[in-house]
Amino acid sequence: MTEPTIENLLREGRTFPPPEDFAARATIPDEGVYQQAEDDWQGWWVSHAERLRWLRPWDTVLEWDAPHAKWFTGGQLNVSDNCLDRHVDEGHGDQVAYHWEGEDGSRRTLTYRDLLEETCRFANALKSLGVGKGDRVAIYLPMIPELPVAMLACARIGAIHSVVFAGFSAQSLVDRIDDADAQVVITADGAYRKGNVIPLKANADTAMADTHRVRTCVVVRRTGEDVVLRDERDHWYHDVVEGQSTECPPEPMHAEDVLYILYTSGTTGKPKGIVHTTGGYLTQVAATHRMVFDLKPDTDVYWCAADIGWVTGHSYIVYGPLANRTTSVLYEGAPDHPARDRFWSIVEDYGVTILYTAPTAIRTFMKWGPDLPGAHDLSSLRLLGSVGEPINPEAWVWYHQYIGGGRCPVVDTWWQTETGAIMISPLPGITTLKPGSAMRPLPGIKAVVVDQAGDPVPPGGGGYLTLQRPWPSMLRTIWGDDDRYVSTYWSRFGNEVYFAGDGAKLDDDGHVWLLGRVDDVMNVSGHRISTTEVESALVDHHAVAEAAVTGRSDAMTGQAIAAFVSLKGDRQGDEALAAELREHVANRIGKIARPANILFTDDLPKTRSGKIMRRLLRDIAEGRELGDVTTLANADIVSQIQARSTAAAASE
Ligand code: PRX
Repeated sequence: MTEPTIENLLREGRTFPPPEDFAARATIPDEGVYQQAEDDWQGWWVSHAERLRWLRPWDTVLEWDAPHAKWFTGGQLNVSDNCLDRHVDEGHGDQVAYHWEGEDGSRRTLTYRDLLEETCRFANALKSLGVGKGDRVAIYLPMIPELPVAMLACARIGAIHSVVFAGFSAQSLVDRIDDADAQVVITADGAYRKGNVIPLKANADTAMADTHRVRTCVVVRRTGEDVVLRDERDHWYHDVVEGQSTECPPEPMHAEDVLYILYTSGTTGKPKGIVHTTGGYLTQVAATHRMVFDLKPDTDVYWCAADIGWVTGHSYIVYGPLANRTTSVLYEGAPDHPARDRFWSIVEDYGVTILYTAPTAIRTFMKWGPDLPGAHDLSSLRLLGSVGEPINPEAWVWYHQYIGGGRCPVVDTWWQTETGAIMISPLPGITTLKPGSAMRPLPGIKAVVVDQAGDPVPPGGGGYLTLQRPWPSMLRTIWGDDDRYVSTYWSRFGNEVYFAGDGAKLDDDGHVWLLGRVDDVMNVSGHRISTTEVESALVDHHAVAEAAVTGRSDAMTGQAIAAFVSLKGDRQGDEALAAELREHVANRIGKIARPANILFTDDLPKTRSGKIMRRLLRDIAEGRELGDVTTLANADIVSQIQARSTAAAASE
């Protein structure tokens, strides 16, 4: 069967109106919210901010000095107070916050009271180790309950966390520690992944030997690895929380105080520390989580299957769900351990009602076949979500049919680390869905698709996705580099227009279809990786003279990394060296950045001014027709690369 293209699908026009019983009980049942928010968009966000517990009311809703925004200035609140104490105070202390399941089958249940007490104990421990307001704390932990606890403990005392995905290398950890000047690291002895143990503390040791900033390291015992604890600097988590009080007054924070930094790839080799603050961020993650997932705190069991190391986990495993008093599942491991139906066992065992995952996972489940979910009772599910990359209509329809049993709306949610929260998405009780479309901006959000000149395109047109009005959870700056903040996001179309870096198309009804990145950022399995970052890792290898990297389409991962490498001297590339280079990149950045293919070439195609023609390499990687190459300085190299690329594809 050939896959329908977007054009075909638009013509075909499959649509899915909200099921009647879903619409009848929907949290947002009425289309009128769009107009209401349009009439007074600041007032709309105020109505959501008012659902939180403020320690001091704000004076001003928005100060917009383009491109810098401040929301709810003068107001004070504490994020952990809103996520924990508020619910316990209102009599919900016994409600489960997290059903945690380890990859090895171990389980822990944490109620809101448990989570509050554990957070307070660790917050007190951090204080006793000298951590205070404004200090940066790097958190390098697997998906264990101590990860949200550590984040909430930082939020409680006003420390700024910088979570580093546990799959990242020691070098990536060093870069992030140095950039944020983090003097504290929280890690674990090891992490389980597909039955293997990743030696996290050993990685952290390598990192801490490379940077001399870290004066305190707290280690959670998870796998029982042998670890070396260095006197003075290193402490076991269980030792430092021992005897600590379960009470720790939340630090009153200004709405604009920094809550966290989270690094993401940009178009250069240096990751950007995206800065999120307190009041606006919590307002929008809570509001969108409640509206988009139709959350019913008393009855839903919600599972976002992302890793907390990415923004999806920050906003939709930790802060949004906890602010809304959600009962969530927290799963530590891989979807195929010990078997490929692990997700469906979890849905069945906990009675999951809302599942939020990524298209790359859905396509993998498709490949594994419908019999695996079919063997489990998934009737508890009532809503499905997708995030991280464009979802192809076939995957959407499969998800709807085989996971959702044909009865669950699928919300395709577009957003970014920078936006902090969902920006474009259906509202499941209202929107008639089109498979593959994120549909329309949420109430209060002004998303506009523009052409090269910055003019809005009409329905049926395509161009660049922009956001043309500030929103509460927007990034405030790039840590330590405000110029880069301005130039990356607010320069292309003027300083009032946020440039998202995504291409998008409007269909005839004006609905939004995301098309992928328009810059040198690849999207592999929903993870952002910059071509330059991978190129820098490759040229860092002693055998490599030059490298150019591009993303090519991949049926499973969305994009795969294709690398073109020329070697120093007369050295010839072979499979052993290709394997060594792939490993080298994994060690430098992390496994997610390992190139799928490495093609050795005598030279890279260059313009007469010496610039590598990446666009041409992308066309070669995609197997596309090449245009005129005669203007190149070294046109003859193209035929060599093409021949080798074709030979490599044939041998796959
Ligand atoms: O290209 C878009 C894609 O992921 C990018 C943001 O990546 P990151 O900051 O890592 O955050 C991922 C999770 C929010 C975007 O610029 N993207 C994200 N969601 C979608 C998407 N592309 C299409 N459809 C989506 N629903």
